[in-house]
Amino acid sequence: MTAVERGAYLVTLGGCADCHTPGHFLGRPDATRHLGGSDVGFEIPSLGVFYGPNITPDDDTGIGSWSEAEIVTALQTGFRPDGRGLAPVMPWRAFAQLTPEDARAIAAYLKHVPAVKNKVPGPLGPGEQAPAFVMRIVPPTAPP
Ligand code: HEC
Repeated sequence: MTAVERGAYLVTLGGCADCHTPGHFLGRPDATRHLGGSDVGFEIPSLGVFYGPNITPDDDTGIGSWSEAEIVTALQTGFRPDGRGLAPVMPWRAFAQLTPEDARAIAAYLKHVPAVKNKVPGPLGPGEQAPAFVMRIVPPTAPP
């Protein structure tokens, strides 16, 4: 198995496409834009709204400008190359458990998938108006 094949296998198991492919949360994932960014954001109370970004190698709207080492760092420490920590909805604490070799295989695969041009909204701070669908935590209704 090549590193790219191993990466494809791990990305399937990691459920990456759920949060990083348009249409997934609307019940119809768009296979032509695999990993091209979600159209549904997660609202994290007091933190803001986060859309699973485009993680294809498109230079402008994806992570084409990231090195494989930078992708590995994001997966294993939760930090982007610009130093911003990723919101906890991105399950990097789980991916920190990957062996370095498996994390590198995922990075190799992400560099290999077709580039998709699609810029997701945000990230948005608390109270900012979301321009697309949002998954929201709704408080329980008070008992009558
Ligand atoms: C439960 C949803 C979810 C899953 C599953 C998930 N991600 Fe994410 N991911 C996100 C969100 C949301 C962000 C953006 C967080 C932020 O901007 O703070 C993100 C950010 C990223 C980033 C940083 C991209 C950028 O432009 O900042 C990378 C790389 C990434 N994810 C790769 C992966 C990979 C690879 C997998 C599977 C092994 C995966 N993600 C699984 C939700 C998820």
